[in-house]
Amino acid sequence: MDVKDLVINRRSIYGLGNKQILPEKEISALVNHCLKYAPSAFNSQSSRIALLYGNSYQKFWEIVLEELKKVTPEDRFALTKNKITSFAQGLGTVLFFEDRQSVSALQAKYPLYAKNFDVWSEHGNAMLQYMVWQTFAARGIGASLQHYNPLIDEKVEKEFGLPPSWRLIAQMPFGSITTPPDDKSFLSIEERLKVLY
Ligand SMILES: Cc1cc2nc3c(=O)[nH]c(=O)nc-3n(C[C@H](O)[C@H](O)[C@H](O)COP(=O)(O)O)c2cc1C
Repeated sequence: MDVKDLVINRRSIYGLGNKQILPEKEISALVNHCLKYAPSAFNSQSSRIALLYGNSYQKFWEIVLEELKKVTPEDRFALTKNKITSFAQGLGTVLFFEDRQSVSALQAKYPLYAKNFDVWSEHGNAMLQYMVWQTFAARGIGASLQHYNPLIDEKVEKEFGLPPSWRLIAQMPFGSITTPPDDKSFLSIEERLKVLY
């Protein structure tokens, strides 16, 4: 596929199914590849991933629902539940983290840039998120980007035995595509892009 079409083809997919488009081993290899090759500030490689399938995947969305129940008005909870249930109907979820220790080590090593490393760590993680999202799209796997942190952080760390230095940044439920995305609207590119010679 042409690179321009690849970019167009990556969309937020909310209608997820569990048709095994690729074996889990191959999906894991794709995620592994993105994690290895993603750019990072000073090549710090501060991003971390937990890739959830099967029971872990189901348990994760149960935790999200439990935590949301505590903060969602009762009359809106049915809607919330539908949404969360839809994320649990796919093949798995990628959890993206940044490692606090890697970031503080950089701050200590390069005091001149100390203030920038938190922001660069977020940038690096966003690039990794995009790489995984794009790679999934290229293989016909639908995904969306979710943010239930920090509400769920403590429970997730405990449930999956993750290092306390891993700071949760984003969640990406993925699966087969049961509902294609709606058309999306675009602002005028002329107002957003300046090409200067
Ligand atoms: C930084 C960032 C945060 C986002 N957070 C969420 C989110 O929490 N929940 C969600 O459903 N979509 C989220 N999205 C997806 C956007 O809503 C979506 O990318 C945008 O509407 C364009 O649609 P598309 O992804 O289909 O191109 C996020 C996207 C970005 C770049």
